[in-house]
Amino acid sequence: MIKFSKKTNLLSLHTKNTSYIMQVFKNQHLLHIYWGKSMVLTERNNYLPLDERVNMVNSDPADKSYYLEDLPFEYSFWGKGDFRNPSLTAVDGNGAVISNFIYESHTISNGKPEIPGLPSTFAEEADDAETLEIKLIHKKSGVSIYLLYTVFPSFDVITRNVKIENRGSSPVMINKIMAVTVDFAPGEYELLTLPGAWGRERWIERQSVHHGVVSIGSSRGISSHQFNPFLALLSSGTGENSGEVYGFNLVYSGNFLAETEKNQDDRVRINIGINPSTFSWVLAPGEVFNAPEAVLVYSDKGLNGMSGIYHKFYVKRLSRSVYASKERPVLVNNWEATYFSFNEKSLLDIAHKSKDFGIELFVLDDGWFGQRNSDYTSLGDWVVNKDKLPDGIEGLSGKIRSMGMKFGLWFEPEMISPDSSLFRSHPDWALQLLDSPPAEGRNQLVLDLSRGEVVDEIIRMLKQILGTNAVDYVKWDMNRSLTDIYSSTLPPGRQGELSHRYVLGLYRIMDEITSAFPDILFEGCAAGGGRFDPGILYYMPQYWTSDNTDAVSRLKIQYGTSLVYPQIFIGSHVSAVPNHQLGRSTGIEMRSHTAMMGNFGYELDFAKLDDKEVDIVRNQVSFYKTHRKLIQFGRFYRLLSPFEGEKASWMIVSEDKSEFVLFYYQILSEANMSRSSVKLIGLDEKFFYEETGSEHVYSGSELMYRGYFLSGFNADFQSFVIHFSKTKNS
Ligand code: DGJ
Repeated sequence: MIKFSKKTNLLSLHTKNTSYIMQVFKNQHLLHIYWGKSMVLTERNNYLPLDERVNMVNSDPADKSYYLEDLPFEYSFWGKGDFRNPSLTAVDGNGAVISNFIYESHTISNGKPEIPGLPSTFAEEADDAETLEIKLIHKKSGVSIYLLYTVFPSFDVITRNVKIENRGSSPVMINKIMAVTVDFAPGEYELLTLPGAWGRERWIERQSVHHGVVSIGSSRGISSHQFNPFLALLSSGTGENSGEVYGFNLVYSGNFLAETEKNQDDRVRINIGINPSTFSWVLAPGEVFNAPEAVLVYSDKGLNGMSGIYHKFYVKRLSRSVYASKERPVLVNNWEATYFSFNEKSLLDIAHKSKDFGIELFVLDDGWFGQRNSDYTSLGDWVVNKDKLPDGIEGLSGKIRSMGMKFGLWFEPEMISPDSSLFRSHPDWALQLLDSPPAEGRNQLVLDLSRGEVVDEIIRMLKQILGTNAVDYVKWDMNRSLTDIYSSTLPPGRQGELSHRYVLGLYRIMDEITSAFPDILFEGCAAGGGRFDPGILYYMPQYWTSDNTDAVSRLKIQYGTSLVYPQIFIGSHVSAVPNHQLGRSTGIEMRSHTAMMGNFGYELDFAKLDDKEVDIVRNQVSFYKTHRKLIQFGRFYRLLSPFEGEKASWMIVSEDKSEFVLFYYQILSEANMSRSSVKLIGLDEKFFYEETGSEHVYSGSELMYRGYFLSGFNADFQSFVIHFSKTKNS
């Protein structure tokens, strides 16, 4: 999988279908030669044509034959003639730029090392994963950079991460450190990103790559609703099922940068890593800094090809939870049914009705602690409100569990309300600048997780509550961006470390709590999908995708999210109409059919449903549970994009292709609509498939090449979800 040729100085990484090749070049520069479909290079002298160029700088005055700005690098440094945005910027104790790192050595080992303090994907023995560690050195300063590449041959995935070590005698200031740089060959490319906002997370956006830099990222302290830490470079014209795709996804939950740069020679550079505009780090002699990892996926089978690789890899090798591959319960959450106004009786009413529908997990959301009757108060005071719950959490949980349901509880552990006992006793625990009162988001402040004692207190509090109450599930919320980035405990020269230290503190809490309570199912949330990233998904195997529960909005949100993240991670609930976020009314079928694509649940007052709707809910829960394993863990394919018209469709196929579920949605309808069909994918063309509940049988080839014909759509917001299975004689 990983090979080094002494003759050519080529280092090549191979997965089942891809190759990634670099070369130790003149003056020990480490160059990027190729990434793409599996390829073999014959041994020859020169893999990069070197021509004399005009008006370029020679970094080595003794050798006029090459120019750094003309070359593709594995990791790049500003200051010696490569003028593109670099991978690393750092200065030594004199303030001089440390540049010109060169290859010194490499090692190849089995498996994959963990990254201290950071979440990362992992290898199992059967994976035959190998890790290449390349050491680059800067002789004068004593600083070394280690580039790590892990190859997962059967998953077709390569992960990369970087660490930097100071063996010199004076501190070094790091101002930028990317997880990955890839310099692509000159060509025409498109850039795909997942921008959004609260309630509109992870929409798909594509643009041609022009000269100059396009950067996306976050400076909000969280990966954000606004951009996911993901981008893909596409060959021009790539679609869902054809074309070349290069995906980059950062395993990180804080400020990030992902940038695309096309230079004068049409060469395209991708950088992804911690956002340098909100980051600096002092690396003292003897210290090592680890940057987060990025997961790289190449597919020549279009976006569906890339998604299939990410989905499988993330379920199996990102999520650490014991639930990673286990079927998840259908849940009911009281938030949109009650908001802050509930008592034990109203909660038990919801639970009783839910139980009757076959729902398996009851989740108590915000409002159970302190004086939390609105979002103005009590974050930090994690003591049950006995006016609402006289028998405490234990009492409520006991009653729910005795009904045969599981019990879940909401927390927002990173926050503190100005109106809270915690703030009154520890005002300095909130992030705040010294010159002005801290800015409030949702009337709350953020705890300073760079401080060990704050992190310890959150861990203590969570362990105490989770250790003394019967809790099966936790929803971990986080409802505002970080501002007032100042910590009273960090020295002036280290304030630039705070945003990253916050993330490290958060990961320490998540690590301790999820390890201490492995049987609790954790769901991440940040005002909906504001921190839906692989860093959190490493600890928590599902995520509340968006606060927007409208069925039509969710089509785009879930379609976009599915580009990278498997459907089992995508929390999706049926809510009431008119929808609380945007006032639209859709039928209970459409709402359920949309929510059923992922990790299914309800979030409404069942007492307001009429008899017909009650029957529908009962049937839907039963349908979902019958096909749950397939829906939650099957191979997901996008068929029709809600970004391109008034239809959306996707399907989920079992691994052996013996069954599948087809989802179809008509958004707005038209008078006298023409008949159309949707072409399925991923089936066995030799199989015959029967539509469950009808006698219709189709061949796999017919469904894939001619399509499944749609009829009967004559109104807005109509949909179906149909299960098909292979006939006995096919
Ligand atoms: C934001 C979440 O996204 C909602 O689901 C809900 O938990 C509220 N916070 C509670 O405050």
